[in-house]
Amino acid sequence: MALLEVENMSIGYNTKKGYLKAVEGVSFTLEEGASLGFVGESGCGKTTIGMALMGLLPPNGSVREGRILFEGKNTLRMSDEEIRKIRWRKMAMIFQAAMNALNPVQRVGNQIAEAILVHNPSVGKEEAMGQVEALFELVGIPRDRLRDYPHQYSGGMKQRAVIAMALACHPKLIIADEPTTALDVIVQSQILGEIKDLQKEFNLSIIFISHDISIVADMCKDICVMYAGQLVEFGPREEVFESPSHPYTKALLSSFPTVTGKKSDLIPIPGETPNLVIPPAGCRFCDRCSGPGPSCQAEAPEWVEIGPGHKTLCCRC
Ligand SMILES: Nc1ncnc2c1ncn2[C@@H]1O[C@H](COP(=O)(O)OP(=O)(O)O)[C@@H](O)[C@H]1O
Ligand SMILES: [Mg+2]
Repeated sequence: MALLEVENMSIGYNTKKGYLKAVEGVSFTLEEGASLGFVGESGCGKTTIGMALMGLLPPNGSVREGRILFEGKNTLRMSDEEIRKIRWRKMAMIFQAAMNALNPVQRVGNQIAEAILVHNPSVGKEEAMGQVEALFELVGIPRDRLRDYPHQYSGGMKQRAVIAMALACHPKLIIADEPTTALDVIVQSQILGEIKDLQKEFNLSIIFISHDISIVADMCKDICVMYAGQLVEFGPREEVFESPSHPYTKALLSSFPTVTGKKSDLIPIPGETPNLVIPPAGCRFCDRCSGPGPSCQAEAPEWVEIGPGHKTLCCRC
């Protein structure tokens, strides 16, 4: 049994402009110890998927359709109490921009100890502090920084603290939402290396979210490319990265620097993402595609298998 199985999940938000279809018909599977990356431009639904998995969508958002099976049980059918038992203890999320959300008036070590105490009533205060020390060592924060306040930390250290917080209850699954976006390149690569080491050490399953396809390819064995709320391509990283099929994946790859690429070779994707209150009837990428066919505007594309475990939602591929 897979650790996580998402079947045909659709998520929407009630907004002043109408019902916004943020995620449409998304399905994927994550085995224990596996890593799956979600990539796409801002607004394509990546964070919404993470929040839905955690059962933390805001009040105006809801999963309209589909199933989220965690260890075989549909979390959408669980009571608040049941989901509270798995949130943080079995699945944890490193929120986008979380390092700015550390409480500025509480010592970092105490904040993490508190998280441990809230979720493990049997643990005492001293024991929790001992666990925090071990977590600090794990994520590479010197022990003597335990009693510092967040403003005394560098950006990279704050992000390490947030990772320690996510690991506090020994979850099986970590959802990391753009965990290094705010950091400079060197610190970013250190932290990504740290996440990889932790994954191996604890056989963690990871869902890694980023707008940068080269980071996702570096971090994850399998990649899901999202556009305007839909999955448009998925497959093993070598396939997706080296033989991209969907025109959007190709455009994404040309718009980001690779390790060897030059900045001058980058081609921004023209146009804008569609309005998700009234999404296009046919292919959602049609208006920005470099070579759409005659039926792309009117007909919704269907999945096409192009290699082992590699599929694309493009009728022209
Ligand atoms: N709380 C919210 N209320 C209304 N719309 C939202 C809310 N959060 C996200 N959205 C909309 O849902 C879509 C997907 O957003 P999001 O999941 O944040 O994308 P990403 O993480 O890929 O940038 C966007 O159109 C965004 O404007
Ligand atoms: Mg996001």
